[in-house]
Amino acid sequence: MAVTPLIETPAWRALAALAGHSLRLRELFATDPQRFSRFSLAHDGVLLDYSKQRVTSEVMAALHVLWESADVPDWIARMRAGETINQSEGRAVLHFALREPNPRAEVRAVLDKMQRFCDDVHSGRWRGSAGSTISDVVNIGIGGSDLGPKMATQALAAYHQPDLRVHYVSNLDAAHLATTLAQLDPRSTLFVIASKTFTTQETMTNARSARDWIVAALGEAAVARHFVAVSTNLAAVAKFGIDPANAFEFWDWVGGRFSLWSAIGLPLALAIGFANFEGFLAGGAAMDRHFFNTPPEQNLPATLALLGIWNIDFLSASTQAVLPYSQSLEHLPRYLQQLEMESNGKQIDRAGYPVGCPTAPIVWGEAGTNGQHAFYQLIHQGGRLIPCDFIALRQADFDLPGHHDALLANCFAQSEALMRGKTLDEVCAELAAAGMAADKIQRLAPFKVFPGNQPSTTLLLDRLDPYALGQLVSLYEHKTFVQGLIWRINSFDQWGVEYGKQLAVRLLPILEGKQPATDLDSSTAGLIAACKTGASRN
Ligand code: F6P
Repeated sequence: MAVTPLIETPAWRALAALAGHSLRLRELFATDPQRFSRFSLAHDGVLLDYSKQRVTSEVMAALHVLWESADVPDWIARMRAGETINQSEGRAVLHFALREPNPRAEVRAVLDKMQRFCDDVHSGRWRGSAGSTISDVVNIGIGGSDLGPKMATQALAAYHQPDLRVHYVSNLDAAHLATTLAQLDPRSTLFVIASKTFTTQETMTNARSARDWIVAALGEAAVARHFVAVSTNLAAVAKFGIDPANAFEFWDWVGGRFSLWSAIGLPLALAIGFANFEGFLAGGAAMDRHFFNTPPEQNLPATLALLGIWNIDFLSASTQAVLPYSQSLEHLPRYLQQLEMESNGKQIDRAGYPVGCPTAPIVWGEAGTNGQHAFYQLIHQGGRLIPCDFIALRQADFDLPGHHDALLANCFAQSEALMRGKTLDEVCAELAAAGMAADKIQRLAPFKVFPGNQPSTTLLLDRLDPYALGQLVSLYEHKTFVQGLIWRINSFDQWGVEYGKQLAVRLLPILEGKQPATDLDSSTAGLIAACKTGASRN
């Protein structure tokens, strides 16, 4: 039986009809004093205020029909049962099983091994080859083997172990590794080589250079005390020369961008201690229970997902700003870039047909208030629809007098300004009240008008502790999953990253001068020639 294209389904058409009615947030607030309580959810220390989204009860009801028509509960059940829902790679999707309170035996065994290792490093039982305790850990990985632990390590800075610094090196550019190593003493440095496949060019190149650095300083025998690995490919780990006893395994049913909960979280566990890492897992598991068992009307990940679909597919937004008013969450936008854009940046559905509508937005952002002094101008007056996720903490994780209330005031002021806007009449009245001459008001007023009606969601966390961070990450993971289901795409493969890798393999021997530059377009050939001879044309 032919499947109805998504955009022709009754649920989709109903939403498209509703999108034709223009909604002004300012008026929606003015006519409904209960708007905040009507359009906000609170669960286990997380408040999700979506009253500043351009939605009505009717829109939300239609979005809930869309959730039903995408069979989300059925897909959740299939995922939990371990079905091969990542069809194009032939894999199950079970990352949530890593954070279950009583995980399966293979997961428990690796967690126990991680715990022993963390305890050994923290207690000083684990020593470098010259007898030094470990002062610095360098995680070498990229993508999902870097962004998650790096984001979480920064997020939980208030929980860092004393006397241990954790660094992250990802870029193939030697500047990343070289500038990191320049600060370190090889005798007290431990490398974690993190790669699901253990074949990724960036990671393997950095790992080899790090190995050379250790061997040059301490000799070949030192490798065993200065390198551990995290991978699904234990054979490749052994081939690289890392003792299998120092390898931490995970499994192909954990997607790279969902792997923070696995042994990929080892540098995080080293940074914050294993008990705190367990708190992080517990927060993730708590959000899983909420997601699995709650109807969409009260379900936090479902709500975030459906609002995103509304903004992207019905209001034509092409981006999603993530604006954490927390320096500790500085790396969250970059982490979510991979999570959402690598998962759902696709145009072909699970059956191999075009999806027929825009999918993942361009995710970007910056910690508030820094972003305010960089790009908020464009959000306020640039004329584009830019949905924003504001993320704020009720209690500061680092507190100095005069900071936190001012930070919150800025966060809430921005979403208020984006929602409300400022009309020409209001601008003129304000300037007149300030005593400005009428002719000057006339000249200046147009520049001070704010269109407003810019949709935003605010997530307010009680605090940023390991548990809350676990909730937050799990919340966005499930949001991504739900959106993928609605768009009918497989959120767990990433074929789009392959082509560039393939071409880079072809270009390397040409750049190295080992092969002639044949069959290249004139731009690529010209760039390679310029690298060899210098950029100047004279
Ligand atoms: O960017 C493509 C990708 O395959 C990601 O999905 C993954 O997180 C990253 O590369 C790193 O892969 P690995 O952990 O195998 O080194």
